[in-house]
Amino acid sequence: MDEQLYKSRRTTYLARMKKRSIALFFSAPLKTRSNDTEYPYRQDSDFYYLTGFKEDNSVLLLIKEKNSTQEILFVQKKDPTLELWTGKRLGEKEAKKRFLVDKVYTTEELHVRVNNSLLGKKKFYLDLVCEEKNLLHVRKLIKKRVKKSLYKKSTLHVRDISQKMRAIKTSHEIELIKKALMITKDAHHKVMAMPKIGRFEYELQAEFEYEFKKNGAYSDAYTTIIAGGDNGNTLHYINNSQKLIDTELILIDAGCEYEMYASDITRTIPVNGKFSEAQKEVYELVLATEMKVIETIQEGVLRSDLQLMARELLCEGMVALGILEGDVAELIKEEKDRKYFPHGIGHWMGLDVHDPCPYKDKKGREIPLADGMVMTIEPGLYLPLDDANLPEKYRGIAVRIEDNILVTKEGYENLSFGIAKTVEEIEALYSRT
Ligand code: GLY
Ligand code: MN
Ligand code: MN
Repeated sequence: MDEQLYKSRRTTYLARMKKRSIALFFSAPLKTRSNDTEYPYRQDSDFYYLTGFKEDNSVLLLIKEKNSTQEILFVQKKDPTLELWTGKRLGEKEAKKRFLVDKVYTTEELHVRVNNSLLGKKKFYLDLVCEEKNLLHVRKLIKKRVKKSLYKKSTLHVRDISQKMRAIKTSHEIELIKKALMITKDAHHKVMAMPKIGRFEYELQAEFEYEFKKNGAYSDAYTTIIAGGDNGNTLHYINNSQKLIDTELILIDAGCEYEMYASDITRTIPVNGKFSEAQKEVYELVLATEMKVIETIQEGVLRSDLQLMARELLCEGMVALGILEGDVAELIKEEKDRKYFPHGIGHWMGLDVHDPCPYKDKKGREIPLADGMVMTIEPGLYLPLDDANLPEKYRGIAVRIEDNILVTKEGYENLSFGIAKTVEEIEALYSRT
């Protein structure tokens, strides 16, 4: 456990806080699945980023005075009866030994301690979105101390600083993403190779979940998408309930989470192992687009440049295939291409699959790519079965190809390099069964 790492993140966070302020981070709440059973617990990403602690009912309080700082962690009280049911808790004493914070208290003391810390403070970094019970109470405490007219100005969103910090990944974070991707790669390759005709989408989902867990991943980083044929035209199809049909494609968007870090990989493969001519035409267009966009990645490039490039390449290709008609520039200006490529070229990835790091700075200017950022590149073409405007042979085809890219000083590193994606590689893997 590298406590120094989390300590240094808190130090950076504190350095960016205004003087005479406090910041409060809450652990994720438990989420009810039904009646008295809960979903498996997953820690809040910002809380984890600053503490490395995975228990619920915990709070981090950072205090910045004029010339000093204090870090306080609140943890669940030891409770042998409850621990019998839900597992061991670290408790106050062990937490004090482990975490490099100034003080540890039980969460029962939160309100009193926070109230004491408010004295003389002018700024309050809180989660301005969350409605957690404890947080509502803290807001009340602050409202008692701050003039009503100043309340809005005094409260700042606590995640703004941490999510900005999270944009640049350390080598340790990149190693965890790479580990997640190794597991994800093996799972994709296993599913590419297995016989699939007549199997159900959920059977493939089960293979992914099995491979993820078996190899030490906590879970999937998002619900696996196994979309046979026209189902791929529903962007976030997660029903995974249909039978796979011999001549169709399967769009598979699946990535595991390893030690809290995501991977996010899409591959589109033929059910029977061989692309038809029409499928290949669409596939090669998306693949060429993906590879060309990746090749342009380097520091200083804007995500909107990548988006426009993908749109132009896909649009040109769609005109060549007879999917769209007209002048490419005109079609893009009129957003006609968006009908078949309706989503973004990619997103930040890290502790969250869609890492909530900012895309724009305070002035609304786009943040250029920089060394240490990790993003997905995921162009796609979605050609619905019921779209009578499409050439018949393309109806019901959906293709997305997605890789995870690290921006480096030299340009980029494709962290998911080696996951089969050319037609030849995919067909060869299937024929090995
Ligand atoms: N897996 C969700 C996405 O690609 O954004
Ligand atoms: Mn994805
Ligand atoms: Mn993605």
